[in-house]
Amino acid sequence: MKLEIFDNYEGLSLRAAKEIIGVIQRKPNAVFCLATGDSPKRTYALLTNEATQSGVDFSKAHFIGLDEWVGIPPSNPGSCHYYLDTNVFRPLGISAARIHLFDALSKDLPNECHSMDETIRRLGGIDLMLAGIGMNGHVGFNEPGVSPNLYSHVIHLDEMTQNVGQKYFNGAVVLKQGITLGLKHFLETKLVLLVANGGEKAAIIKRSLEENISENLPATFIRKHSNGKVFIDSAAAFKLIKAR
Ligand code: F6R
Repeated sequence: MKLEIFDNYEGLSLRAAKEIIGVIQRKPNAVFCLATGDSPKRTYALLTNEATQSGVDFSKAHFIGLDEWVGIPPSNPGSCHYYLDTNVFRPLGISAARIHLFDALSKDLPNECHSMDETIRRLGGIDLMLAGIGMNGHVGFNEPGVSPNLYSHVIHLDEMTQNVGQKYFNGAVVLKQGITLGLKHFLETKLVLLVANGGEKAAIIKRSLEENISENLPATFIRKHSNGKVFIDSAAAFKLIKAR
């Protein structure tokens, strides 16, 4: 694992966007798995600007959704589906056939998990995953206590995730379950970028980088990844710097 600390969110986002562009330039049919949320938002804006201005071609790439709130439809602006459509797929002009997201309204969620795992296998694995870190150390919706041996699965959301997740929605919503790629996907991905910014992430960043690797803190598994990169801004690094 490599840790890079940036002066600010802009620097971090620029670096993450460059990594994504580097992958697509080396491998035009690369498979990307992108988190939603606040942390990668600027990365996606920079990426889509650069792609439009410099003609970076994503038309042969595939996109895998990292996770989704069970029961929330794609039409809801708080859904991961809506976020990715708005911030990534539409700006980059990605065709529907190359977008592989969980259907969190499915009556057969285990089958959703199974077909996602099959899709990833068929595409030859994920080349780059861009993930954020939850306030409880989750990655995707791999909540504290999750087995690192799981591929896609449905999970009961931690109380903190249920509460923090309200920030993405216009009104109060019930967020009880998530459907997510597993830590096994995370560990098998060729390149993982974990991004975090802002002082509110400083404590969980310190714990994720300094505590023992454990399923009680899923983000610690980034340290088991042979090609994992952690990009944080100085605010999120605050407690690390103080500890040194
Ligand atoms: C979202 C996801 C989550 C978020 C995490 C951080 O697709 O996978 O794990 O990355 O909760 O969210 P933000 O960036 O909003 O702080």
